[in-house]
Amino acid sequence: MEDNLMNNNFEGEVYHPAQAIIDEAHIKDYEYLYKMSIDNPEKFWSERAEEFYWSKKWDKVLDDSNPPFYQWFTNAKTNIVYNCIDRHLKTWRRNKLALIWEGEGGDVKTYSYFSLNREVIKFANVLKSMGVQKGDIVTIYMPRIPELIFAMLACAKIGAAHSVVYGGFSVDALAGRIEDAESKVLITADGGWLRGSIVPLKGIVDEAIARQGTIEHVVVVKRTGQEVHMAPGRDYYYHDLCELPVMNQNCETEMVDSEDMLFILYTSGTTGKPKGIVHTHGGYMVYTATTLKYVFDLKDEDRYWCAADPGWITGHSYIVYGPLLNGATSFMYEGAPNFPYPNRWWKMIEKYGISILYTAPTAIRGLMRFGNAWANRHDLSSLRLLGSVGEPINPEAWKWYFNVIGRGKCPIMDTWWQTETGGFMITPIPITPLKPGSATKPFFGIDVDVVDNDGKPVPAGEEGNLVIKKPWPAMLRTIYKDPERYVSQYWSTFKNMYQAGDSARKDKDGYIWVIGRLDDVIKVSGYRLGTAEIESALVSHNAVAEAAVIGLPHEVRGNTIHAYVLLRAGIDGNDALAEDLKKHVGHEIGPIAKPEKITFVDVLPKTRSGKIMRRLLKARALGLPEGDKSTLEE
Ligand code: WT7
Repeated sequence: MEDNLMNNNFEGEVYHPAQAIIDEAHIKDYEYLYKMSIDNPEKFWSERAEEFYWSKKWDKVLDDSNPPFYQWFTNAKTNIVYNCIDRHLKTWRRNKLALIWEGEGGDVKTYSYFSLNREVIKFANVLKSMGVQKGDIVTIYMPRIPELIFAMLACAKIGAAHSVVYGGFSVDALAGRIEDAESKVLITADGGWLRGSIVPLKGIVDEAIARQGTIEHVVVVKRTGQEVHMAPGRDYYYHDLCELPVMNQNCETEMVDSEDMLFILYTSGTTGKPKGIVHTHGGYMVYTATTLKYVFDLKDEDRYWCAADPGWITGHSYIVYGPLLNGATSFMYEGAPNFPYPNRWWKMIEKYGISILYTAPTAIRGLMRFGNAWANRHDLSSLRLLGSVGEPINPEAWKWYFNVIGRGKCPIMDTWWQTETGGFMITPIPITPLKPGSATKPFFGIDVDVVDNDGKPVPAGEEGNLVIKKPWPAMLRTIYKDPERYVSQYWSTFKNMYQAGDSARKDKDGYIWVIGRLDDVIKVSGYRLGTAEIESALVSHNAVAEAAVIGLPHEVRGNTIHAYVLLRAGIDGNDALAEDLKKHVGHEIGPIAKPEKITFVDVLPKTRSGKIMRRLLKARALGLPEGDKSTLEE
């Protein structure tokens, strides 16, 4: 059945959406609106911005007087939370469900916009009582539970910024991020559920705090309920604080400047130090709301499920802010997709009537492995649109997703974007003819191209650098505390173009095919990891002198980490040490960064200037030609 597509809308490798989908879609003419949005982006974006509440309107839509430090909706005042919650309370949506949440153990919680507001107010009062003020950065390290969302919104509501650290990260990754953000307050939980076991978040927090010196208070949400260490005067249980009557008093949503920082989110780059990507209230708000509405054709009747973690940009933009801005009903699930059985996701789609599912190729491939029967047991007819993000989706996984999950009737929105871009950049909308494996065309207002190393557009079909030639509202504003790195990383390779760091091809129809990262960033299960971070975790082990890390292709995870390790003099490599090193990386960065394989070597290939030639290690591992070796040190 795999290749025998179940509907007749396929022509060669192009899928044409059914007329019913086109009739329903918010946008019915891509070409016309795209042209208008590129010819006059300020008109396009100001019209979208008019849909939101601003306590003061902007002087300028786009201020490009100091590139690449662009500003959007300058001098306007708003608060993204006002538009996510307060605004809806004055309408019928007050009683609409904002969130349906299911824990891994099957416990369910639901929140209307009214009750979401109550929860966010409580959390905001707790933060205020700890002295959190406008301009502070609060670090959040939580499992996938509703309180994670409340905490993020509570920060934004009072004008503070959040820095969410994914709950799958571990000690060193957490400590480094807290330190860079100089957070005084940390929000966490005792633990989270994953595959029936407890992830001991609070223990990791204690170790991380011991490694850095800024945290004064820790708020601990009780999720798993086991005994955890609580430092007197520093750590407080959230439920204890909520008992205080003052926490239930009203808390107004603070009006902030459009360009005030909403959050930072750390992401891996080419150096060992993750970059704090800065996003702001106004432009990010307009962009995430618009992209979600047009791409997933969001309607009030939808039950929308973005299966990412709120701790990544996908979750920030399309679990938290985008859906709430649209007044949508979202679903969130705490645990593993195959717990207790591989039908968990399909069962929940059936149970809740999910109409839009947005996930990653690695999850699709992981579930595909279990065969069709698990999905076929369930009524998935509520689905109308599917989505994919994180890495290129291989046509085989695309077709399985399309046929077996979408039952041949749901177009797949393959969205290309990055932590830095804030929202979808290259993506179909429901009316776009699809080619499996291509993220298709740029979103409105996005001027994308593929260029050679001199910045000149390459001919159709040829590989080149993916660039963006115009600023857009949700673009990163800078790298936190490192504006020089912002300029050099993204805006220096090509004149006046944002360099995405990906290679891509544009075909004769103008469809973009993203190939992958050009830098030392590896995508493992869609997660972005820097080789340098993993190498420095390895070197922090006392047996290791030097290490080099590469990514090699993997059927389910896309890539896996392979490490080449040079041990200190007098130490011999063996299986036990290899296991120990893997565990060490897991402990320092997180389980996702654990090397699949460790090879002990006597020498690492380096250039004469001392840079490790990972390219050469990779070619050797794959049995490919070794290429130019002229810079190799003997
Ligand atoms: C990198 C950004 C944006 C949310 C998740 C990832 C790769 C992302 C696609 C896609 C091909 C993709 C790129 C990009 N990527 N989506 N649909 N097709 N590649 O955010 O962790 O910042 O990673 O993910 O290589 O540069 P991120």
